[in-house]
Amino acid sequence: MHLLSIDSLSDAQIALILDEAARWFAWNRQPRRNAKRLDGLTVINAFFENSTRTLLSFEIAAKRLGAQVVVMQVEQSSIKKGETLEDTGRTLNAMRPDALVIRHGTSGAPETLASIMDCPVINAGDGIGEHPTQALLDAATIRQRFGRIAGLKIAICGDLRHSRVARSNIKLLHRLGAELRLAGPPSLVPNELPHAANIDEAVSGADVIMMLRVQRERMSEDLGDAPGEFLARYGLTAERLARAAPHAAIMHPGPINRGVEIEGALADDPQRSLITLQVEMGVAVRMACLDLLTAERVTA
Ligand code: NCD
Repeated sequence: MHLLSIDSLSDAQIALILDEAARWFAWNRQPRRNAKRLDGLTVINAFFENSTRTLLSFEIAAKRLGAQVVVMQVEQSSIKKGETLEDTGRTLNAMRPDALVIRHGTSGAPETLASIMDCPVINAGDGIGEHPTQALLDAATIRQRFGRIAGLKIAICGDLRHSRVARSNIKLLHRLGAELRLAGPPSLVPNELPHAANIDEAVSGADVIMMLRVQRERMSEDLGDAPGEFLARYGLTAERLARAAPHAAIMHPGPINRGVEIEGALADDPQRSLITLQVEMGVAVRMACLDLLTAERVTA
């Protein structure tokens, strides 16, 4: 079994991951935690795009479960000598890893590797495709805060076009019964999402506001916005937040562009912001995913 997209998971698997993540979340807060569930297994992390949260949390998650983790140094690898993704996959497979975690700039790269590898492949973000473990950690964070997801009004706002986080979250949160509102600048809303509202409407009465980073590195043309313009027109400000439900929580997958999609003070507000809780939940969710995907190998 691989974890390539939200659609690759059954409802029962999603429920299991969220339940197990809540358990690992509590367990991670205890001192001197070390589990042996993945004892003797090898996990390869191959990140072809930059990452702080996702890379480290997969490594910490695997190590807390007792696995050996090998991080492929892409900059120093044979990819720099022109090796194809398929050949790199065959090479990694020959070393008999028990799981491969991959982040890649090309949408669909994890599927390509999954067709080559004999072990589970986990998509840690593919181009503008999907980022399923981010959506799972976001869902687990919302459940931790609100005790449920069904019926919550969740606004997802910003650079929807380039966001694999949004793509996975839209699928997952919809399946879990949330009422979604999507908003972004017209040039950053993909054609397949015609129902996007403006941000003021999206935020009105929202229980959760998930802001997305403006991904300038994926744009062929610059947005041409003046300093402060994006925040004023499309970003989360204290003034806009006042339209949301009084208990509204703020989320962001990180990294944050302070003063662009979100006012810095809102990201730091301990009452409102779930951003560090998302990071903490990221370790727990990745433990749950690694545990589920490698279960057959452990019992073999
Ligand atoms: C996101 C990503 O890489 O897709 N970050 C993350 O994994 N937490 C979002 C982003 O880069 O803006």
